[in-house]
Amino acid sequence: MQDICLIFSFDVSSCPGKMVLEDFPSVQMPFEWLVQLVPPLKTRAFSISSCHSAHQNQVHLTVSVVMWKTPYKRKRSGLCSSWLASIDPQQNVLVAVWFKKGSLPPPPPSLPLILIGPGTGCAPFRGFVEERALQNESDPTAPMIFCFGCRNKDNDFLYQDFWMKHSQNGGVLSEDKGGGFYAAFSRDQPQKVYVQHKIKEQSTKIWSLLSQGASVYIAGSSNKMPSDVLSAFEDIVSAESGVSKEVASRWIRALEKAGKYYVEAWS
Ligand SMILES: Cc1cc2nc3c(=O)[nH]c(=O)nc-3n(C[C@H](O)[C@H](O)[C@H](O)COP(=O)(O)OP(=O)(O)OC[C@H]3O[C@@H](n4cnc5c(N)ncnc54)[C@H](O)[C@@H]3O)c2cc1C
Ligand SMILES: NC(=O)c1ccc[n+]([C@@H]2O[C@H](COP(=O)([O-])OP(=O)(O)OC[C@H]3O[C@@H](n4cnc5c(N)ncnc54)[C@H](OP(=O)(O)O)[C@@H]3O)[C@@H](O)[C@H]2O)c1
Repeated sequence: MQDICLIFSFDVSSCPGKMVLEDFPSVQMPFEWLVQLVPPLKTRAFSISSCHSAHQNQVHLTVSVVMWKTPYKRKRSGLCSSWLASIDPQQNVLVAVWFKKGSLPPPPPSLPLILIGPGTGCAPFRGFVEERALQNESDPTAPMIFCFGCRNKDNDFLYQDFWMKHSQNGGVLSEDKGGGFYAAFSRDQPQKVYVQHKIKEQSTKIWSLLSQGASVYIAGSSNKMPSDVLSAFEDIVSAESGVSKEVASRWIRALEKAGKYYVEAWS
């Protein structure tokens, strides 16, 4: 699996320096100064969310338009993600891209997998599931669990039909095959439900897969998600194997050192 980097040019109206100056209108400076002050735009990386064997000569991306409010309560959106969203597919806009090796190694078909990908963190795992579904057509593959999380079932349940298809009728994510697909909808009820709550509900199954040598892959927001998910894994190992949380924590660290616990997170 690879990541893809993008490089592109923008019009000055979306320049971050201009946004800051809008919040502080008393600061006046000639345009030439601004151009010298703002650093060059950085490239943005995106996980490839398709499998090459299933979509030859294509690369699919799963991009969320990032939004936030400035301390002065102005609504802002991410430079690259909103630019990508603004491109008209009917126009032949050229986007300069290149490929970079990602930090999530492609798993062999015999490796049981526990995948955790809330929000756009599902991107690399769509490719994993597509790949395994193709491999499973010729030889039986190892079980795979995918835990997805989003705000609302009706608004941002990315690739819902895709996950449903592969979790039914003996699909690679089906419980019949020892796997499973579990979704956490954080804002569909008064209290938050996150991916870590879902994996704890599947504690016995998760421990069984870990005992069979499963690898854990986590992708998505780098805020609190990776550490909360790590803590949930420690709770599972502690509860299921009857050891203290400290011993469970060392067990997970050993898993990481052995190249069986990967995190690819971004802010
Ligand atoms: C390995 C890797 C894989 C990735 N895969 C994906 C993926 O599959 N899908 C995906 O959607 N993203 C992915 N990302 C994230 C992606 O690279 C971008 O970071 C993301 O799209 C936001 O870029 P942007 O240009 O839209 O936002 P930017 O304009 O870069 O803003 C990003 C953040 O910076 C902050 N910020 C910027 N300017 C200001 C300001 N003036 N004031 C306050 N805060 C500010 C905000 O918090 C904002 O959320 C990945 C990142 C990495 C490193
Ligand atoms: N998803 C949307 O509908 C939407 C709409 C507009 C803009 N955006 C923008 O797109 C960016 C990416 O959004 P995204 O939806 O792909 O990903 P995201 O912000 O990472 O959220 C994905 C899911 O993870 C949940 N989450 C938050 N903290 C968590 C934690 N500590 N542990 C586990 N799960 C946690 C979120 O719940 P909560 O957020 O409920 O806490 C949400 O359900 C956001 O920063 C936002 O600016 C998203």
